[in-house]
Amino acid sequence: MTPSKSPVLVDGVVLNGPQTDVKVGENFVEEACRLVMEEVVLKATDVREKVCEWQPPEQLRQLLDLEMRDTGEPQDKLLKLCQDVIHFSVKTNHPRFFNQLYAGLDYYSLAARIITEALNPSVYTYEVSPVFLLVEEAVLKKMIECVGWKEGDGIFNPGGSVSNMCAMNLARYRYYPDVKEKGLSGLPRLILFTSAECHYSMKKAASFLGIGTQNVYFVETDGRGKMIPEELEKLIWQARKEGAVPFLVCATSGTTVLGAFDPLDEIAEICERHSLWLHVDDLLKKCYSAQATYLFQQDKFYDVSYDTGDKSIQCSRRPDAFKFWMTWKALGTLGLEERVNRALALSRYLVDEIKKREGFKLLLEPEYTNICFWYIPPSLRDMEEGPEFWKKLSLPHDRHVGIHEGLGLTPCSFPPKASREDSIPSS
Ligand SMILES: Cc1ncc(COP(=O)(O)O)c(C=O)c1O
Repeated sequence: MTPSKSPVLVDGVVLNGPQTDVKVGENFVEEACRLVMEEVVLKATDVREKVCEWQPPEQLRQLLDLEMRDTGEPQDKLLKLCQDVIHFSVKTNHPRFFNQLYAGLDYYSLAARIITEALNPSVYTYEVSPVFLLVEEAVLKKMIECVGWKEGDGIFNPGGSVSNMCAMNLARYRYYPDVKEKGLSGLPRLILFTSAECHYSMKKAASFLGIGTQNVYFVETDGRGKMIPEELEKLIWQARKEGAVPFLVCATSGTTVLGAFDPLDEIAEICERHSLWLHVDDLLKKCYSAQATYLFQQDKFYDVSYDTGDKSIQCSRRPDAFKFWMTWKALGTLGLEERVNRALALSRYLVDEIKKREGFKLLLEPEYTNICFWYIPPSLRDMEEGPEFWKKLSLPHDRHVGIHEGLGLTPCSFPPKASREDSIPSS
């Protein structure tokens, strides 16, 4: 028999009792997981299900009980809320969900995410996240091998925008390490170069880092959306003439809309000649470390190089590598390769269908999985492709779209460059 504890009370709060009803909590997790299994996972491949139970914001606000009250709500109500959330959410796993950046449900990464959400680790130090740090190390090592490097360093970021921002900051730190302590005051006007087809996160990063969006020089692209190396070089000289300091070229391998790959070898050669950053090893930690003494003590009982959190701009970090690792483990490198091949085969199929069908116009032969095409509504099919045609086509209900096959649909910028050059008179 456990001796009954006498309550430890501080300001009327019992400290040595449970904070919540454990049994009720456990039951809630079990029921919520069952709901996720039944309503999300098991229905994910069912085409008869709706992709989305669409409601405009005013109506949706009425349908959901969004208010947070002074007292907690009963379990059955909370479960109903969970059900409503699933019901009114977009089923991004649905086979007919076409939007950018999605490729259906990956069971292994979902399971990995469930594990990490349950464990709720924070990948800053080895003592808190031993497994996840080793997993991240293994994934990074394999990825470095995949790109053909003998060594390298890295960190999983929460996405492409943050990665672009980190790269920009690293480049600046490489040339001006004092920026870390002294800030922007001692810096010249720095210029970075990226293609006109780059992702908008480049501008955001430049703004966030105090570089300034006007100091992002967009290099002209060719008809396929690839950076033109000669134009890059011209802009570098132009920046120099303006008395500014070029420091970085951000190339893109697979642009957001057209899926274009910038010519990396030629760009690298220009970067070398002009001493611009394209890639430098071993800067992550030096650039980002804050050496917080409450976390990153150097006299721990294990190899503190595993406390990789000091290489990140975040403190608490999700173990994002774990999802990827689990999928890689489940499919193997060959399985991942098959997925890419399937996405490419689907793209080729889609291109053939677009060519065959009336009312569809392929923008350009794809080099990757992004397929850009126009849907020409019947009312415009006999119209000549002049300014009036493009104006009408750009109206919201006549949306033109691009598809990252296997990834999703992307609305194209209007009008995409290739089409602008090919089809619209310069006036
Ligand atoms: C080429 C490219 N870079 C960066 C991003 C931004 O990625 P994230 O949404 O993860 O911030 C995207 C997103 O589509 C992208 O296509």
